[in-house]
Amino acid sequence: MNQRNGAGIMKKRSIRSLSVSEIGMGCMGFSHGYGEIPSEAYSIEAIRKAYDYGCTFYDTAEAYSPNLAGIGHNELILGKALKDVREHVVLATKITLKTDEVAAHGLDSVITSHLKASLERLQTDYADLYYLHRLNTDIPIEDVAGAMGRLISKGLIREWGMSQVAVETIAKAQAVTPVGAIQNIYSMVERSCEEDVIPYCLDNGISLVPFSPIASGFLSGKVTADTDFSHADDVRKFVPQLSSENIRANQPLLDLIAKFASEKQATMAQMSLAWMLRKYPNVIPIPGSKNQERILENLGASAVELNDAEFSSLDGALNAIPVHGFRGHDEILGGAMKDWGKRRKF
Ligand SMILES: NC(=O)c1ccc[n+]([C@@H]2O[C@H](COP(=O)([O-])OP(=O)(O)OC[C@H]3O[C@@H](n4cnc5c(N)ncnc54)[C@H](OP(=O)(O)O)[C@@H]3O)[C@@H](O)[C@H]2O)c1
Repeated sequence: MNQRNGAGIMKKRSIRSLSVSEIGMGCMGFSHGYGEIPSEAYSIEAIRKAYDYGCTFYDTAEAYSPNLAGIGHNELILGKALKDVREHVVLATKITLKTDEVAAHGLDSVITSHLKASLERLQTDYADLYYLHRLNTDIPIEDVAGAMGRLISKGLIREWGMSQVAVETIAKAQAVTPVGAIQNIYSMVERSCEEDVIPYCLDNGISLVPFSPIASGFLSGKVTADTDFSHADDVRKFVPQLSSENIRANQPLLDLIAKFASEKQATMAQMSLAWMLRKYPNVIPIPGSKNQERILENLGASAVELNDAEFSSLDGALNAIPVHGFRGHDEILGGAMKDWGKRRKF
């Protein structure tokens, strides 16, 4: 592995004014979503190993806490892990806007107070990238964009973005305050972003930060029909594509990834990341893992190069393989995400 100690040899991409390693680190699993969480000491050590490897882009959210109860568990870990190297990293966090809270206190006041609480937990006085975690249809996106613009003017955030949004929402927001990044679900098995979100982002200088880029581990080939998702805080039990029938039905896709991975002496997880990096210059995936070895493995995908012929062959083969089961889960099928569910391709 191409490890570094402080010098940084991972390739770089930019999110408007920010320079980041071309693969970031999704930190959610240290607090929520994938079963038992590791100890804080192990999580901090994992984040530092990623930093030593060359990772400069870290993704968290105020909401990431065990069972989504409480607030800020994940931000606290990230703050402890990176406080002494703060100026060398890009920290991205997210806000959830609740209708009642905004009605009672006003949008600017609510966003500022949530942000300041996040900054305290992250042990910093600015966030590099601040996302709206989910669209709240009670609150016009233009108003959110205006409030984010005022935070940028005050130096409290550097760039802003939105998560799980359609292109119409992005365009409305972009007209008020230029958007730095969109964080939507995107992987080899959930490619609806390719229809119009990624093209719009490419045209407008916006980065696409895919979440669940390894499809919750499925594309690594390590999730099988027998994998246990029963832990109370394991989101995979809500993903239709991860039913045992769909896992079995999607085996041809895994066989294809395995073939290309073996040809490039890469792992399957690395191949799934190398594919999206090669496909779009504005894509910056944030794979998530609770396991220190896998974190470095995923970052190592930055060194897996696909030449034109290899990429065309892989992409063409992917286009020809049907994908079984919707990759989303209950949350993105309901409420504000109803349009997203309708737009799904598979
Ligand atoms: N904006 C949003 O609404 C939203 C939603 C979900 C996630 N996110 C962000 O996106 C990040 C990544 O998404 P994600 O964690 O859902 O999905 P992911 O990166 O596609 O997959 C994570 C799962 O894959 C496994 N895994 C990761 N690398 C592996 C490897 N090399 N080999 C085998 N298994 C591997 C992990 O298991 P182990 O931990 O056991 O390795 C974990 O169960 C999160 O950490 C979070 O920061 C954002």
